Amino acid sequence: MLDLLRKRRSIRKFHDRPLAEEQVEILEESILRTPSARNLRSWEFIMVDKRDLLQKLSEVRGSSSAFIAGASAAIVVMGNEKTADTWVEDASIAAIIAQMTATSLGLGSCWAHIRNREHKPGITAEEYVKDLLGIPEQLRVVCIIAIGHPAEEKGSLAVEDLPYRKIHRNRF
Ligand SMILES: Cc1cc2nc3c(=O)[nH]c(=O)nc-3n(C[C@H](O)[C@H](O)[C@H](O)COP(=O)(O)O)c2cc1C
Repeated sequence: MLDLLRKRRSIRKFHDRPLAEEQVEILEESILRTPSARNLRSWEFIMVDKRDLLQKLSEVRGSSSAFIAGASAAIVVMGNEKTADTWVEDASIAAIIAQMTATSLGLGSCWAHIRNREHKPGITAEEYVKDLLGIPEQLRVVCIIAIGHPAEEKGSLAVEDLPYRKIHRNRF
């Protein structure tokens, strides 16, 4: 696990090559195995691989989401706020598990944040994505995880650069 965590970096440049069907199946199984509060599984996902939809998704937040256009696939991670008040946590756990699974498959990924972000004045990023993909009212969009074959290399952070001061022993 530590080896995978050392490898994982946000990758925003991708080769123009589809994911193998087996990779998609592994990603799907991994997100469905994630823990959720009271096992209520408040999440829902849309696996997007159509080039025109990836392009439109990439326009949701300007430069902050532009990398989605070049990805092979994107997982739109949603939570049902009527199912559990932990929908943000449940969805976020699934999102990071998708990223770690992508790393384990030799793929690159990056999180594009959607919840509480703006598309343009008067239109939230959530409204834009929900309208584009026909997402029902009760579902909230937390983020989009872009996944693809990495076209950039990023080294792992040096242990010396990790903020160990953030970890407190027994008391703050
Ligand atoms: C909650 C969350 C929201 C993020 N939102 C974005 C985003 O909208 N666009 C983006 O390019 N990266 C986004 N990122 C990626 C972070 O910028 C990245 O994880 C951070 O800079 C550390 O770099 P690393 O992932 O390579 O270690 C997000 C990451 C998290 C965890």
